[in-house]
Amino acid sequence: MAKKTPILKKTITLANNIMLQHIIPVTRYYGSKRKLLPAIWGEIEKREIPFESVLDIFGGSATFSYYAKLKGKKLIYNDLFRFNYLIAKAIIGNKTLSLSLDETLQLLKENPDINYKHIIQENFNDIYYPDDENRVIDIVIQNIQHLADEEKQASAYYILFQSCMIKRPYNLFHRKNLNLRTNYNGGNFGNKTTWERSFEELFIRFHKELSECTFDNGFDNKILNSSALKCDANADLVYIDPPYFHKDNHLTYHSKYHFLEGLAHYDQILSNINFETKNKEITINKTREFENKATFLFELDQLLNKHSDSVILLSYRSNGIPSIIEIEELLRRHRSNVEVITLGKYNYALTRNNKETEEYLFIGK
Ligand SMILES: C[S@@+](CC[C@H](N)C(=O)[O-])C[C@H]1O[C@@H](n2cnc3c(N)ncnc32)[C@H](O)[C@@H]1O
Repeated sequence: MAKKTPILKKTITLANNIMLQHIIPVTRYYGSKRKLLPAIWGEIEKREIPFESVLDIFGGSATFSYYAKLKGKKLIYNDLFRFNYLIAKAIIGNKTLSLSLDETLQLLKENPDINYKHIIQENFNDIYYPDDENRVIDIVIQNIQHLADEEKQASAYYILFQSCMIKRPYNLFHRKNLNLRTNYNGGNFGNKTTWERSFEELFIRFHKELSECTFDNGFDNKILNSSALKCDANADLVYIDPPYFHKDNHLTYHSKYHFLEGLAHYDQILSNINFETKNKEITINKTREFENKATFLFELDQLLNKHSDSVILLSYRSNGIPSIIEIEELLRRHRSNVEVITLGKYNYALTRNNKETEEYLFIGK
């Protein structure tokens, strides 16, 4: 029997006093703020900051946006990567789940009318998944492409991407390390039982999860797929949760998730594989914007200039480079009222050796 997924339940009161209980989806995403959401929103609410709309400009797994949606805000989600955009479309953009469980399971079956390509099976042998799973991924993606509408497609991608992440050691794609899974003989880095669950079992699980978290908050929430500096949307409050650097080698979000970004652009994979890399990195949307220590402050400065009329909420870490003080100084150049709040020690999922670091929140008004 499938292990029960740990869930965070949130009761919300809608404007018409209807109480709703919703789960906050488990996202397995590097740097996800899922567990910090009550603390972050607590700080906003304590200060009674007035705002109707939110721009979550480095949206990632969309947990912050999801919470804002629960809180009845009109929201705009943005992320550089299309796979994140599709995940956000499923859990924030969609108002109901129109993809049935039958349709979901049908995605796993070959359709005799489709002449399938086998891009993953032929190019990613022995890298991330065993051969039979590579074949399933090829089939599912092309079946998704044949689904009737974008709403259903986004839900199907959500289910596929969550299943792909859960099957990976550390849930990441920066290394060719299928052998960690196949040669696993105990240790503390993962869970063989989870990796080996069939796509069918995972599809049922993530379809259920999606059905529990899809709802209408009364707004047509916008989902965007742009680089932060090119994103022209604006809102009363802008949440900035950028990639952050510390002393160790920096792994970009692209290197962590390039494979999912490839799946989100299936027909462009072949022309974008870097065959020089052991893990056959897919180079789509590889950029250094906000992924380079040397230019980070300059880019943050530009971003703050673009949102000069909004309340700024910025998440950061005590061991980040640039330092907390440098970020504070920059923010003070843009806002007269700046608060630096520590949310306490926090150990992120998927990261190790960060027990001594603290989570910070900057509020600039
Ligand atoms: C720290 S994570 C955000 C985590 C998110 N708040 C959550 O709870 O899941 C940073 C995000 O920034 C995205 N990103 C990286 N560079 C970007 C850029 N130049 N423009 C927009 N998004 C970018 C990454 O894809 C990643 O999802």
